[in-house]
Amino acid sequence: MATHYSSAFVLLSVVAWACALSGSLAARDLADQDQAMVARHEEWMAKYDRVYSDAAEKARRFEVFKANMALIESVNAGNHKFWLEANRFADLTDDEFRATWTGYRPKTAAASSKGRSRTATTGFKYANVSLDDVPASVDWRTKGAVTPIKNQGECGCCWAFSAVASMEGVVKLSTGKLVSLSEQELVDCDVNGMDQGCEGGEMDDAFDFIVGNGGLTTESRYPYTASDGTCNSNEASGDAASIKGYEDVPANDEASLRKAVANQPVSVAVDGGDSHFRFYKGGVLSGACGTELDHGIAAVGYGVASDGTKYWVMKNSWGTSWGEAGYIRMERDIADEEGLCGLAMQPSYPTA
Ligand SMILES: *[C@@H]1O[C@H](CO)[C@@H](O)[C@H](O)[C@H]1NC(C)=O
Repeated sequence: MATHYSSAFVLLSVVAWACALSGSLAARDLADQDQAMVARHEEWMAKYDRVYSDAAEKARRFEVFKANMALIESVNAGNHKFWLEANRFADLTDDEFRATWTGYRPKTAAASSKGRSRTATTGFKYANVSLDDVPASVDWRTKGAVTPIKNQGECGCCWAFSAVASMEGVVKLSTGKLVSLSEQELVDCDVNGMDQGCEGGEMDDAFDFIVGNGGLTTESRYPYTASDGTCNSNEASGDAASIKGYEDVPANDEASLRKAVANQPVSVAVDGGDSHFRFYKGGVLSGACGTELDHGIAAVGYGVASDGTKYWVMKNSWGTSWGEAGYIRMERDIADEEGLCGLAMQPSYPTA
């Protein structure tokens, strides 16, 4: 009942506003547009089961929705290699979105000194791979090294999903078995270093924990809850897969990243709070994107689109309705050495 009342309230107040301005044609057009937007907001709310606590909250969310729709429509009206949609994040501000749906804490000198003392990374094992020997395209999904898309929900532990995705890959390549591994074990048990569950973390710190822990257990034994919990050491001791260590790909070097991704899935940090990334629906993301690293994903392949655009295939953790069935293609080998959305800045992978 409260929801019906509040939607009627907002509709009525918009109608009243429209009537008060009906003397001017321009004003009426504006009011018509707003009414159409109110209707779109209602449809969107129904589609995503969104319920607001009261009319004031709904009015505030409507303004955010309207601003996001303006951005999405202006991008889609332009000449781009990708398109956006008003997905389930369309009534969130940038800050709200970054706070709940991302969760990568970029590596800094200060941050590393706060963490547990890390196993030193062993270098870059693919340094001497020749790009001439690397395939023109790679897709680890078709090689059975990628588990189905997962959904982190409103918990900032992208770092766990990113680390688990690249670990699942290297475990498949070294043992022949694809096993879905537990993010929740990382969220609950990897709490003595940089990684802080839903409050954010970093993939290298997760690898470091996994090495010290002797591995990770399976998703089914230690299922995901999208919330911080107490470490269940009974389940955590049933480790299903392990890694020996991890290595960083040389920073700001997409050629090195390709050498690594040609050999295994790789964890990557990006600016996932960038609105183009957030609302991505399909195509090859390209052009403007920030480099404020706040989100962990996994590079699971690369290729070349029919128009010649080179791209990375990235596995995300926002469910299958986001992007291309949960994946995003991002332009590869761009002029900016940091890579699109900073993707070349801090990639790393586990070793088995
Ligand atoms: C790459 O080649 C150089 C020169 O042969 C060698 O010293 C180095 O150990 C190699 N690096 C790796 C990671 O294999």
